[in-house]
Amino acid sequence: MQSVKPVRLAKMLSCFAWISMLALSSFAQSPSSPIQNVVNRKTISLNGDWHYIADPHEEGTARRYYLNGKLSGTRPFVEYDFNASPTLRVPGDWNFQRPELQLYEGTVWYQKSFDYHAPANTHVFLYFGAANYHARVWLNEKPLCEHEGGFTPFNCEATAALQDGQNVVIVSVNDARHADDIPSLRPDWFNYGGLTRDVRIVEVPRQFIEQYSIQLDRKNMGRINGWIRLGGASTPQKLSLRIPELKLSTEATTDNQGLARFTLNASGLQLWSPEKPKLYRVEISTESDQIVDEIGFRTIETRGTDILLNGRSIFLRGIDMHEEAVNRAGRAHGEDDARTLLGWAKELGCNFVRLAHYPHDESMIRMADRLGLMVWSEIPVYQGIDFKNPQTLAKAQQQLTEMIARDRNRAAIVLWSVSNETPKSAERNAFLHQLIVMARTLDPTRLITTATNQTNATEPHKRVFDDPIIADLDVFGVNQYIGWYEGVPADLDITIWSTPYNKPMIVSEFGGESKYGLHGAASQRWTEEYQEDIYKHQIAALRKIPFLRGTSPWILKDFRSPHRQLPGIQDGFNRKGLISESGERKKAFYVLQRFYRELAAQTSARAQ
Ligand code: GCU
Repeated sequence: MQSVKPVRLAKMLSCFAWISMLALSSFAQSPSSPIQNVVNRKTISLNGDWHYIADPHEEGTARRYYLNGKLSGTRPFVEYDFNASPTLRVPGDWNFQRPELQLYEGTVWYQKSFDYHAPANTHVFLYFGAANYHARVWLNEKPLCEHEGGFTPFNCEATAALQDGQNVVIVSVNDARHADDIPSLRPDWFNYGGLTRDVRIVEVPRQFIEQYSIQLDRKNMGRINGWIRLGGASTPQKLSLRIPELKLSTEATTDNQGLARFTLNASGLQLWSPEKPKLYRVEISTESDQIVDEIGFRTIETRGTDILLNGRSIFLRGIDMHEEAVNRAGRAHGEDDARTLLGWAKELGCNFVRLAHYPHDESMIRMADRLGLMVWSEIPVYQGIDFKNPQTLAKAQQQLTEMIARDRNRAAIVLWSVSNETPKSAERNAFLHQLIVMARTLDPTRLITTATNQTNATEPHKRVFDDPIIADLDVFGVNQYIGWYEGVPADLDITIWSTPYNKPMIVSEFGGESKYGLHGAASQRWTEEYQEDIYKHQIAALRKIPFLRGTSPWILKDFRSPHRQLPGIQDGFNRKGLISESGERKKAFYVLQRFYRELAAQTSARAQ
């Protein structure tokens, strides 16, 4: 694994603006560099009801909705009035708040007034947990920033635009799909539009702790390495890092770019693992700023076809998940949804979840940290992407940078995935290669992977995993649907699996559909018995593969997809869930649960 040159990392961290500028088109300015750990900073929530105007003909910009005009008798008269318009709750998608917006794709304008008095010597940002897909932000009629990408946070410099007292923020959010976007035109999930995650005012001192990486040294588990980068700092600053519970502390001084590196001897450290998800309170202080975080310390690496957590071989007992709410329609967000969904994964016997196919809400990752679930986090470079287009590459690089910037200190995340099921081509390989190199530069402490369905199946019942992109990866993910899209479940009994690569494999997707409560013969598709049969054959076949180090079947819960319209069975849902959309466990749920409990028992027996 190549080490990262400090100069390269610093350059990479500082060229965020350039990448996002390349990805964006016309607006005044791109978001400022990502601020980490917003949940533990001084913030004011702007969540709640926002007025909205749907703008199917994209008229709002020409009519200057961002001026927040008021009804008046004089010319030029306005033909909108936010304050008299209906509201949408934020965070939340617009689709399942208003029946007339359920299938709406296009622009919606949001408006929120708030009273605010900025404290002295304070830098103020507007922070968005996510806005799907393309957001433009105005504050008090001034253009603030623009962001593209529906699943990663962004923060906009607001200090100058803020007024003392009444302020009005206006955001246009457009979720129309385009061929050169990430994801592209046809993802197999529902395109939930809007301000789907928290919106906050973030207050930091003029010189503040912007980003940091605090990780256990992979080569020496008695040492913590890392760096801290200050925002707004032009001269060297003193800073300290403390782990009170371990009575550990160290000091460092930043360079002129605001970056400081440190090493800390970590004697007495309890390592983070799914069995013992130990998190430590970590305190970072500078002359003007301090922040706390809850961080777990563990190492993750590969050795041949093995995956090692804290130096010990581990099998990833996983499940795939989409970010969909439970007990209500719409995008999931916040702690409660995270606790419920990850609680179901724990009930299945999982120690691992693949969060598909985009970065989920930060509260999901922090919950995985606490519950002891390892995480595969992915950017939505999904199936057919415009691999020849440099702007599309810049969009993917920006989302990768934002994903890693937000979650780099979460022990739960062990795998960064740069794509899912992309068709092999020279352009695709070059595109993914650049993302893989970038991920390694931004974070050399984790494993890099991708999910491929590009396997060589020329000979019947023979599967060769020879996708050339595997050469670049630490771990490769394979999606295969034998028994559903191909053949019948019994074909698995005679399938031979091989790969030319000496690397660990995760079967990142397998499964089939069933409607909860539909029963019949095991050979009858769409029944729970058929899905159960697929799982029995898949598990029996996969457990024989010597280089298999993990499974994450498709998928924990039935989820909405416009591709799935079989009346009386799918009705707009992909039914490959082990749990129905209203929380009922299907028969296959217990097949997987038995397998995972057996593996867990073997692991703990070995650990004795
Ligand atoms: C694919 C894909 C998923 C999709 C699934 C399916 O493998 O990665 O996003 O939902 O198959 O067809 O159900």
